[in-house]
Amino acid sequence: MDRVMDEQSVRETVMTTEITPQPGIMDIELYVGGKAIVEGVSNVVKLSSNENPLGPSPAAREAFREQADFMAVYPNSDHSGLRKAIATIHDLDAQKIVVGNGSDEIITFLCQAYAGQGDEVLFTEHGFSMYRICALAAGATPVEVAEKDRVTDVDALIEGCTENTKIVFVANPNNPTATFVSVEELARLADGIPETAVLVLDGAYAEFVDGYDGGAALVEERHNVVMTRTFSKVYGLGGLRVGWAYAPQTVIDVLNRLRGPFNVNRAALAAAEAAVKDRGYLDYCLAENAKWGEFLVSELRGIGIACDDSAANFVLARFESESEADAANEALAQNGLIVRQVKGYKLPDCLRITIGQGGDCARVISVLKAFKEGVA
Ligand SMILES: Cc1ncc(COP(=O)(O)O)c(C=O)c1O
Repeated sequence: MDRVMDEQSVRETVMTTEITPQPGIMDIELYVGGKAIVEGVSNVVKLSSNENPLGPSPAAREAFREQADFMAVYPNSDHSGLRKAIATIHDLDAQKIVVGNGSDEIITFLCQAYAGQGDEVLFTEHGFSMYRICALAAGATPVEVAEKDRVTDVDALIEGCTENTKIVFVANPNNPTATFVSVEELARLADGIPETAVLVLDGAYAEFVDGYDGGAALVEERHNVVMTRTFSKVYGLGGLRVGWAYAPQTVIDVLNRLRGPFNVNRAALAAAEAAVKDRGYLDYCLAENAKWGEFLVSELRGIGIACDDSAANFVLARFESESEADAANEALAQNGLIVRQVKGYKLPDCLRITIGQGGDCARVISVLKAFKEGVA
């Protein structure tokens, strides 16, 4: 046989041996995390990831430390302790709770389980980035539906559904807009989408809305509604990666088949269980957030920066233009305040600012005031 391959055969060999990912995967844009440092600037405060500025409950810290003696031991694979604690606090059925490595993991499982090639996954115009990523990773088609002045538009979502719609994601409150729609609106949405589609109510920020159950009652009433929640926001455990879902038993059975048996580590499980039981600390964090959130919104408006009322632990500040938002972002960074640009969320003229501690909020206002007056 001729040992020297001609050009054509070389090309064919390369093509047949090339490894290629599944369709959709190369359409996913690489995640760019929020910055945590500014070169040459000290006393930096990170207000870009909606973390709890007060950190987790002291009981959660203690529970985490205790697990240092058990690192060699695998975690409980059915998460029964944490599920029971969540069920007791929220008055839910522990059998219908599944725990994930952050709610991101649950969003991933939902797409993997219910959407594939030819299926559509709906979410709102300024919706959370993981919906698109997970839909593409599952080979499905992401479909973006317009919001009405930065608020979820239930009618548009219903109209956006087709026979191919398999999942509808709604974050309520929404990130990065911080707006909220009522439970009645969510019920209308659940009634309006195809019965063969799953409605996922993402309640990552549900705790910040007094009296809101995150959609739990809707889960009880329907066969196709799922609620997701997280320990990353008000509970201050973002670094540990714990989220959970409340869903009909049929969905729980599906998700439990997809998740690895040890998907959440034992320190994270112990800390989350202690955190959810510490209602006093939760109330303290919520009160602080409400106080400084109101301060931030009213002061921003006072210096001529528009923003909606916040139903979460962040505020979306709207500037006159993209270039003004860029310049304000730079002024904040140079003064040690890292906030989030949200161009990827189709909000190029906005900055998302996590509600920090009182002193952080005062610093944000003082820098933006000077910026608006042309002296920052
Ligand atoms: C709306 C929304 N959903 C889900 C998440 C994911 O949270 P985690 O994976 O940390 O539980 C976030 C995090 O920013 C979010 O904003």
